Amino acid sequence: MKRQKTNSMTPIAAILFGYFMTCACADGVADVVLSCDLVEEGVGLGGMGGGAAFTRTPATLALRDVAVTADESLKAITPFMPPRTPDPDLLLFETGVSSPEIPNAEVLLHADCNEQEVMCEISRYSPRGSQEGSDPAYFMVSLGVEGVDLSASLILQTVTVEKNPSTLIQSKLGLPLSPSGTLLTEVIFLVFSHITSVSVPLRGDVLLNCGFRQQNTPLSQEVGVEWRLQHRGKGRKVLEMQTRLDDAEENTVVNEERTGSSMDVAQVVAEGNVSLSLTQLKVLDEGTYICTVSLGHFHAQQVIQLHIVQPPHVSLSQETLVLKSPQTLACHCSKYYPLDSQIEWFYLSPADTEPAASPDSGSLSSHRQHGDGTYSLSSQLTVPTGVAPGTKVICRVSHLTLDAPVSVSALVKPPEPESYWYVLGFLVITVLFFYQVMK
Ligand SMILES: *[C@@H]1O[C@H](CO)[C@@H](O)[C@H](O)[C@H]1NC(C)=O
Repeated sequence: MKRQKTNSMTPIAAILFGYFMTCACADGVADVVLSCDLVEEGVGLGGMGGGAAFTRTPATLALRDVAVTADESLKAITPFMPPRTPDPDLLLFETGVSSPEIPNAEVLLHADCNEQEVMCEISRYSPRGSQEGSDPAYFMVSLGVEGVDLSASLILQTVTVEKNPSTLIQSKLGLPLSPSGTLLTEVIFLVFSHITSVSVPLRGDVLLNCGFRQQNTPLSQEVGVEWRLQHRGKGRKVLEMQTRLDDAEENTVVNEERTGSSMDVAQVVAEGNVSLSLTQLKVLDEGTYICTVSLGHFHAQQVIQLHIVQPPHVSLSQETLVLKSPQTLACHCSKYYPLDSQIEWFYLSPADTEPAASPDSGSLSSHRQHGDGTYSLSSQLTVPTGVAPGTKVICRVSHLTLDAPVSVSALVKPPEPESYWYVLGFLVITVLFFYQVMK
């Protein structure tokens, strides 16, 4: 998918923004103008290797009446103004989004100020069972904002334009334009999520967020929800549900393919909340979750990445070292996930304040994978006799789950005092023994 900055808009959108910077939007709605791509499957490109080719054409999407909370920073936002002279070559989608609302859509406004990338793709959409070229026409819009929790798929339906001799026809789509030169559409159905990616500890629980909205005049009372998991080319169904919005009690069928997965039917019916709850997460639960909501002839999806994380437990084979001969020290890094980790060795001598990297980087064992999918790794370092007493031998472990590397250390002890005390102790006992015997 192509990503682009909202501040590098197509010229038309830039002009639209640039011209009318004085309006205040006091009544809690604002217009958002996004630069998008119209994505179409390529035609006439056969014989080029057989892969599906897509063509992209710049398009503009004007979302009208986006609900916003009263906010000073929105004072400068302008209502959308169509171009002065309608142009049949422009792809200018105009859509009212007050009903149904796009939840959290105001982040689209702020994205522009914060220079966050907005991903916006428009493609043609055919409801199930519909005929090619039938009226009205449908489009699917995929929206996402970088670094912000908003992602949505909208289904747009064209609004019938009364045709008269002066009606312009959009040159690429063959659809009649409104008198102001826009393709008038309305959002009839949308599926959204507040998260696109989530990391959860092993054995933890998670709620994967997904919801839908439909027009005031419902497209259908029958709702189907399917959650699938896709990982490394393999897919499986996690949970499937069919219900009726007007009578859920009598008509709900839930098929729970993964134990410990659930959806709240009351929330589905009352709020269009089809979030999936997963408990006791395992490494095998990791992957791409696809939430598909079907409503009558329409269906739309959201995708959420679930990552399982487990920080390593780090330990050393010894806490102290006495170097009469070279000693082997092992650093164990156990039961972590995912695989990538790094073990480094350092020496910190009493005279220094900063540890110095060991010239010998140690020898790594191979990764071991446990039954629960977690990994363990060890590194062995041979500590030479030349290392001064009082020096700390440090093992430092880095892993994705750790904000800062974890260090554990062993202290090099001088050999003499210990043997001295040992000899002294032995002498004292011997003397006491003979003293007792002599008595
Ligand atoms: C669904 O409900 C949960 C609370 O039960 C909430 O945290 C979540 O944001 C809701 N999601 C949607 C999409 O409404």
